[in-house]
Amino acid sequence: MTSPFELSQKSRSLKPSATVAVTSRALELRRQGVDVISMSVGEPDFDTPPHIKQAAVEAIESGKTKYTAVNGIPELREAISAKFSRENGLDYAPDAVTVTSGGKQAIFNAFFALLNPGDEVLIPAPYWVSYPEMVGLTGAVPVEVPTTPQSGFMLDVELLASKITPRTRMIVLNSPGNPTGAVFTPDILRGVAELAQQHGLMIVTDEIYEHLVYDAEQVSIGQFAPEHTLTINGASKAYAMTGWRIGYAGGPRHVIAAMNALQSQSTSNASSVSQYAALAALVQHGATNQFVDMARSAYRQRRDVIVRGLNDLGLPTPTPHGAFYVMANTQRIHENELEAARIILDEAKVAVVPGTDFAAPGQVRLSYATSMENIQEVLRRLGRVIG
Ligand SMILES: Cc1ncc(COP(=O)(O)O)c(C=O)c1O
Repeated sequence: MTSPFELSQKSRSLKPSATVAVTSRALELRRQGVDVISMSVGEPDFDTPPHIKQAAVEAIESGKTKYTAVNGIPELREAISAKFSRENGLDYAPDAVTVTSGGKQAIFNAFFALLNPGDEVLIPAPYWVSYPEMVGLTGAVPVEVPTTPQSGFMLDVELLASKITPRTRMIVLNSPGNPTGAVFTPDILRGVAELAQQHGLMIVTDEIYEHLVYDAEQVSIGQFAPEHTLTINGASKAYAMTGWRIGYAGGPRHVIAAMNALQSQSTSNASSVSQYAALAALVQHGATNQFVDMARSAYRQRRDVIVRGLNDLGLPTPTPHGAFYVMANTQRIHENELEAARIILDEAKVAVVPGTDFAAPGQVRLSYATSMENIQEVLRRLGRVIG
């Protein structure tokens, strides 16, 4: 059916994903019965821990199935406030905290609460694809701050400073980062905080991978410039709760209030049942920490195997210190990363994400949130393709 109605400028402004072709081809191969191993997923392969599921069952059975306050149930905001204080050294009172439908909605609301058309937003690259797309939807302009594999994708604070103009309004940080796995050092974070204070900028820091840090120090930048920082986090990655859709943010009260106002006119509140599940994750520390420790130690072993294996195959791969992704240089397979990803899929039957959408030319992202057996099989398959 053809329709005379044109889509809005905003929806037409969204960049078509360069990775769609590879993803569709992987699905097609699977449909044909080909044994494709996916290294492209962005979610833990572990199941949600039982004590969290149990809390959701109890919430359903006791009728906690109605609208909640826009900013979340008070118990959860209190637990988040306590978590920020305990784990991050951040002082956000419960009314300076808001609960959203996933970390993604917290970021979306934050950008719409803070950005005007024409504002510039500094984003270290390679970046998570949604940041520049969401910034663009507000009418603001994403500005890349490149980092290199040679430095382990560490942010160069001088380079960041050189990108500041009178229009700069915000710096987006994501440490540990997707797709790089880079964990910015406390010195870098101190440097960024100073810049934000000097130039009156807002820092939006996405700390959703904070618990998945292997051999680095994870520090929240909000400690250094509280009045300039909005801290985003969520239950998805730490507690294997991607489908429950619980994110949250803490920051200056007027920013949180604006985010709440936006949310009140869009999704109203995060799922009530999921909020009770997230509450269990945050208050039953013992059981939750046991799960997080188990997951962290599994990811770390996998990281070591995949990084060594890829480098041994002649695909240079820096060691990431956090999250569950590696960035491999695939120029040995093909100088163009889209072509390299296509060859890896067609010949090795392994699905990876080309760096094109992340501003990472010549590289592909592999997620190691999958079993050790899969990782070893992927390395064998790549070995046969490279020869
Ligand atoms: C860096 C980063 N931030 C936020 C999110 C979104 O998390 P959520 O599932 O809580 O919306 C993701 C998910 O892939 C991510 O990689």
